[in-house]
Amino acid sequence: MKPTLICPVCGEALVPDAQTYRCVRGHCFDRSKYGYVNLLQKQKKKLRGDDAEMIRARRDFLESGAYQPLLDAAAQAVSAAAPEQIADIGCGEGWYSCGLLHRLSADTALAGIDISPDALRYAAKRAANEALTAQTEWAAASVNRLPLGTGSCDLLLNFFAPCEAGEFARILRRDGILLRAIPLERHLWELKAAVYDVPYENRPVIAAPEGFALCDVQRIEYRFSVTGQSLHDLFAMTPYAHKTAPEHIARLNALQSLEVQAAFGLLLCRRTAAD
Ligand SMILES: C[S@@+](CC[C@H](N)C(=O)[O-])C[C@H]1O[C@@H](n2cnc3c(N)ncnc32)[C@H](O)[C@@H]1O
Ligand SMILES: [Zn+2]
Repeated sequence: MKPTLICPVCGEALVPDAQTYRCVRGHCFDRSKYGYVNLLQKQKKKLRGDDAEMIRARRDFLESGAYQPLLDAAAQAVSAAAPEQIADIGCGEGWYSCGLLHRLSADTALAGIDISPDALRYAAKRAANEALTAQTEWAAASVNRLPLGTGSCDLLLNFFAPCEAGEFARILRRDGILLRAIPLERHLWELKAAVYDVPYENRPVIAAPEGFALCDVQRIEYRFSVTGQSLHDLFAMTPYAHKTAPEHIARLNALQSLEVQAAFGLLLCRRTAAD
């Protein structure tokens, strides 16, 4: 079963057909030829999130398997909860969303939400290639106005993406789970050290958002080798890519391979907010 999206104008359920999504009040949204629906309201359409090159780089890098330990840990963290309705907020190109769906019951439905239509184009294509279209919806929307009904989800994924506690608490059922992945202090340290004169550590916030209780924290830390194009993809998929001077990027271009520290925090939070 697919998840039900709601109309961004009036909040009624959207009923999909071959080409559109329509609510009972007649608001209508086209399904793109790639299989996602753009539910961004006009004023938000200018905020595009990650661009096509970042998304392409992330897809190719993630497919190398370098972050598989994080996906494995996430699957293990949620399998006992046997979620039926999942939303992946800031889903990007859907590597974690689809990877997780493969580990859960075939009845599990997932809504992938991202502000970047470029990301959703890739995500919908991934779902189609991996025979997950019947279980998934992909919608362009902002984290602060999610096109999902109140209390409609059992599990929210929020990996390296903005967190909006109030909206998350609204769409999660009571006792539902929020699983967040964040970069820890030394994540990608050697990559930063190779590029910058003075690299800075990340400052992770290991705490539950308002309306949630922090139930478990895992630190997933390991080293991996990254070579050739993958090294450039790893840099291009990060927020540093657009903020780095060409002479610093040249240092990266001179490298053939690098051993890098991965350091992820996986935060399992439970919704405590009153209904
Ligand atoms: C670092 S990427 C992570 C993508 C994916 N979760 C992953 O780990 O591969 C952050 C994602 O958040 C999305 N994003 C940024 N601002 C957003 C917002 N206000 N609402 C929804 N998505 C947003 C970006 O477009 C991007 O795809
Ligand atoms: Zn409507």
